[in-house]
Amino acid sequence: MMHVAVIGSGTMGNGIAHVFAQHGFSVALIDINQPALDKGLLTISKNIDRQVSKGSLTEADKADTLARIQTHTSIAEGVRNVALVVEAATENVELKLQIFRDLDQYAPQEAILASNTSSISITKIAAVTKRPSQVIGMHFMNPVPVMKLVEVIRGYATSDAVTQQVMDLSQQLGKTPTEVNDYPGFVANRILMPMINEAIISLFEGVAGVEEIDTVMKLGMAHPMGPLQLADFIGLDVCLAILRVLHDGLGNPKYAPCPLLVNMVMAGRLGVKSGEGFYQYT
Ligand code: CAA
Repeated sequence: MMHVAVIGSGTMGNGIAHVFAQHGFSVALIDINQPALDKGLLTISKNIDRQVSKGSLTEADKADTLARIQTHTSIAEGVRNVALVVEAATENVELKLQIFRDLDQYAPQEAILASNTSSISITKIAAVTKRPSQVIGMHFMNPVPVMKLVEVIRGYATSDAVTQQVMDLSQQLGKTPTEVNDYPGFVANRILMPMINEAIISLFEGVAGVEEIDTVMKLGMAHPMGPLQLADFIGLDVCLAILRVLHDGLGNPKYAPCPLLVNMVMAGRLGVKSGEGFYQYT
């Protein structure tokens, strides 16, 4: 059984741990404290219950999946003997760089170090390690157990062999991996975020209301969620941070975040997680 570690037990981390464990991998789930880990495990258990109630997993699969996940509050301890680490910590550059310095120190020399970052440069992350050819992006989509894509991001120094291994591993998770190069926003967010920003600009300029904009895109373009609902789901702070990466990294004014988005984030209206964004959640 291949042993992997997942750093971070939040929405993305627990989803990634869930999918690896469901597909037979042994998983070390790592976070800074036990309550965060317990919350992550509870979410995994609830999400497996959805799959059991739909008949795609059995109660026995649930027990086996949960039994394959161990929790740790120390990186040094959790990444011992792993073949792969997937980092899914908060989207903060300094934090991620420190985590990768630690991973480089404590994970076995041959281990692959992957990041689930949605927009931080893989090349930059790789450069703080002594194994840049083994650092790669594995960008899962939320909700991880449902969404089929893994955007596999090759940093400037990522080797062909490591890229192939991560493509193969993603397939073993039942996902469709897609290889892209390391430029701001990669492909997913380079295309998604300007659409979300344009929806917010349309609202800001009074072209239409929240529900009207979302209805046009849901019923007119067959998107499962409208762009404003999707922005709430992703987190408005995350959308703003990604737009800033696109704007700074590509230097084109078309990526400038809408002032309404900036104001909403400053006011603490972050979407589903804060209870209010373009919609109310309480
Ligand atoms: N775990 C397990 N199963 C889950 C789940 C979870 N967390 N969330 C939903 N499901 C399952 C449901 O049980 C249901 O299963 P069946 O098809 O077997 O019935 C299925 O997924 C659909 O869910 P629902 O019926 O509850 O609701 P829905 O049909 O409205 O779908 C949704 C919900 C899948 C979230 C859908 O609205 C959707 O696809 N939204 C868009 C999601 C998206 O665009 N994600 C990408 C965001 S961008 C990102 O993640 C990356 C980034 O860098 C910003």
